Amino acid sequence: MKIKQIITLSTIGLVLATGSAEAEITFRNAITGQPLDMSFAKKGGDTPAFKQFIEDGRNPYNGDKEAIQKGHDLFMTACSGCHGHNAEGKLGPGLADDYWTYPANATDQGLFEVLFGGANGMMGPQYVNLNTDEMLLIMSWIRDIYTGDLQKAKWLKK
Ligand code: HEC
Repeated sequence: MKIKQIITLSTIGLVLATGSAEAEITFRNAITGQPLDMSFAKKGGDTPAFKQFIEDGRNPYNGDKEAIQKGHDLFMTACSGCHGHNAEGKLGPGLADDYWTYPANATDQGLFEVLFGGANGMMGPQYVNLNTDEMLLIMSWIRDIYTGDLQKAKWLKK
């Protein structure tokens, strides 16, 4: 094979490799729109479920009874003080109905972005307390207690 051909082939290889890396989702801060710096993530969260999540933005724990139970326990410690024991709203808004301050929360990607990166005021970034897998567990519980209009449940659609 001639040198020129080798160079051409390896360039194609490089383009393909870069292309597949770009297929992963870019997570953004809900307020600023800046890409989230995932290097802040706590250890232990890079589970198979999280790896799957960053491919397509769908939470693999949705509908998984065991995960939902774990998510509920975590919610009680990390979130209920501000959002209420049934996520009915307290200092922070209710999370079980179909009204969202940030409409992107009707998708799992949007919900994750608010958890990881925070929003305004008391809603700080949760990467301080939770790893990314724990965030997905909590998200599965929030979806499980949903009382809103199913037409607005964008996370169920594709
Ligand atoms: C210290 C209090 C506090 C804690 C702890 C807290 N939140 Fe919040 N949360 C808030 C406040 C206040 C807001 C409203 C912020 C805004 O509108 O920007 C909020 C907003 C949100 C939103 C956006 C809701 C919408 O209508 O778009 C979600 C989702 C959310 N919180 C989930 C959680 C989860 C899950 C946890 C636990 C991991 C948690 N929060 C922990 C106070 C808190």
